[in-house]
Amino acid sequence: MSAAADTGIALAVIGGTGLYRLAAMGDAQALTMDTPYGAPSAPLRVGTVAGRRVAFLARHGEDHALPPHKVNYRANLWALQHAGATRVLAVNAVGGISERYAPRAIGVPNQIIDYTWGRVSTFCEEGGPVLHVDMGDPYTPALRAALLDAAVAAQVEVVDRGCYGATQGPRLETRAEIARLRRDGCDLVGMTGMPEAGLARELGLEYASLALVANWAAGCGPSSSDGAAEITMAEVLANLEHATANLPALIVALLARIG
Ligand code: HPA
Repeated sequence: MSAAADTGIALAVIGGTGLYRLAAMGDAQALTMDTPYGAPSAPLRVGTVAGRRVAFLARHGEDHALPPHKVNYRANLWALQHAGATRVLAVNAVGGISERYAPRAIGVPNQIIDYTWGRVSTFCEEGGPVLHVDMGDPYTPALRAALLDAAVAAQVEVVDRGCYGATQGPRLETRAEIARLRRDGCDLVGMTGMPEAGLARELGLEYASLALVANWAAGCGPSSSDGAAEITMAEVLANLEHATANLPALIVALLARIG
């Protein structure tokens, strides 16, 4: 849709649960933006990482006040684009469904199924041209490939491919819901992958996800019999902290691989 100013931002990072600032960013400036869709979740932080301009935005707000269904996804993406970003790396906390997605794993999913409801999921709401954007590959293949390359270079193990099931939240899922997602082919489950990916496509932004596995999804994992321990926020945050430690190296290596 609308074009961005060319301010030389090489990468925009949207931080999810557990990621509210980019520690590797030097000389960060806060950019408070307004958009036709309302305010973004937080000020954009624009600064330098490994000599490249990077923008960072905390999806849930810097104090994590916004649940997934209250995030203004349109304002966030519009603001990033109008700050000059053309590429978005989305960091998403997820639950692991398939064995490859054990807690602390980092995934680079390649598919999405959207189970969310009641969220504004398109820019085609207020008149203007109706877009039927291609969504066959919801994550930009070139950015995914650069991310996988970067992971090899940074010696960070990542799981290539997987189907992200986007649920409504903010509650976690029932075992039956996760069993259904598994039957549908989902490998991981999170609450923020959609409508973000679809909106990014409508804006023509390159978009890929780093999915940080915080826990086994309900009823999954090695001790998944009925009555297995419930998922705690302490477990979620500890696993996210572990996975997040790899992000600076990954982002630096990614920046060396994108124009
Ligand atoms: N389900 C949905 N979203 C999540 C989960 C989960 O188990 N863990 C972290 N985000």
